Amino acid sequence: MHKTPHAMIYGTGRSVPEKVLTNADLEQIVDTTDRWIMARTGIRERRIVEPGTPLSDLASAAAREALDNAGVAAEEIDLIILGSVTGDMKFPATACIIQDKIGAKNAVAFDLSAACSGFLYSLQVASAMMAAAGYRRILVIGAEILTSMVNWQDRDTCVLFGDGAGAVVLGPSVDNRGIIHSCLGSDGSCANLLFNPGCGSVNPPTPENAAAKLHTINMAGKEVFRHAVTAMTNAMQQVLQEAGIAPEQLNLLIPHQANLRIIEAVAKRFHVPAEKVYVNVDRLGNTSSASIPIAIDEARRAGKIAPGDLVGMVTFGAGLTWASSVIRF
Ligand code: UT7
Repeated sequence: MHKTPHAMIYGTGRSVPEKVLTNADLEQIVDTTDRWIMARTGIRERRIVEPGTPLSDLASAAAREALDNAGVAAEEIDLIILGSVTGDMKFPATACIIQDKIGAKNAVAFDLSAACSGFLYSLQVASAMMAAAGYRRILVIGAEILTSMVNWQDRDTCVLFGDGAGAVVLGPSVDNRGIIHSCLGSDGSCANLLFNPGCGSVNPPTPENAAAKLHTINMAGKEVFRHAVTAMTNAMQQVLQEAGIAPEQLNLLIPHQANLRIIEAVAKRFHVPAEKVYVNVDRLGNTSSASIPIAIDEARRAGKIAPGDLVGMVTFGAGLTWASSVIRF
C-alpha cells in the first residue's frame, strides 16, 4: 500500500424517516407484486418522508449525530459538502441551509450533484480540499428524498427508491488511517439513460410540464443495470490496483444499494464472501447518495467495522457517474 491518507473518518451518523412503505403497500398503488420486487431487486420495504419534508431536516439530523459521534462541535466545522440531487430548493445550496440548522457558522458550504455517486464524489473532493486547501474538520453528507421525484404510476421505477441521509465528519489522518485512495468516473454520453428532465432550464416548471410529469425520474432500467455492473466492477478493480490492495484484504465491501443482483454480481467478481458484503437494500431500497453513508454508520454501530479495518466502497448513478474508495477506519 503506497498511498498516504490525508483525511480520516472521525464520526458517522444517519437519519431515515419513520414511515415504512412495504411491497404490499405498493401492490395497492401500482400493478406489481412483492414476489416480483423481491426477485428482481431484493427490496422488501423502504422508508419515506411525509410529502413536503425538507431534505435539510433529514440531513441535519444525520449531521448532528455524526458530530456527536466524532466529539466535534458544529462551530469547529470549516467545510460542509452535501451530495444530493433532491435539495430543499433549486437554490440556495441545501448545504447552506444545513449549515444554519446545525449552527456550523464557521463553515463554507456547497452542494455537489452526482446522483447516486454524490457521497463518494463529495468524500474525494473533501479529502483533496483537506490536502490542498487546509480544511481541518469537514462534514460530508449524502442525503436524498427521491420520493419527491418519483412517478407513483410508473411501476418500473416507483418500487425502487427510498429516502434517507448519512453523514461523516472528516479530520486529519492519524496512524495512516483514512481515505487511502479514490477513483471517480463519468460518461455524459449516457445521460439519457437515467434523468429527471423537468424543472431545469430545458423544461421549466410550467403547468403543462408539470401535467406531463416531466419532474419525475425516467430510467432505462435494463441498460442502467448493465452499465452499473460493468462500471462498478471496473471502478473497484482500479481503486484496488492503484492502492496496491488485494480484494481478500478488505474487511468489508460497501456497494451502493440499488439492487441486490448488482451487489451480488460485483461481490462475485472479486470473490468477496457474502458475510463481508454490506446489504441494507432490503430494508431501505435505493436511497441514492445516502446509501453508502447510511451503510457506513449502520456497519460501525453494529460492530461490523472496527478501527483499523479496511473497507472498500463502490457506487454508480445518473450522469453516468461512478466512484470507488478504499478507507482504513
Ligand atoms: O442507483 C443507480 C441506478 N439505478 C440502478 O442501478 C437500477 C438498475 N436497474 C435495475 O435494477 C433493474 O433493471 C430493474 C429492477 C429496474 C428492472 O429489472 P429487470 O430485470 O431489468 O426488469 P425489466 O425492466 O426488463 O422488466 C421485466 C418485466 C417487464 O415485463 P415484460 O416486458 O417482460 O412483460 C416489465 O414490464 O417486468 C415488468 N416490470 C414489473 N413487473 C412487476 C417492470 N417493473 C415491474 C414491477 N412489477 N414493479
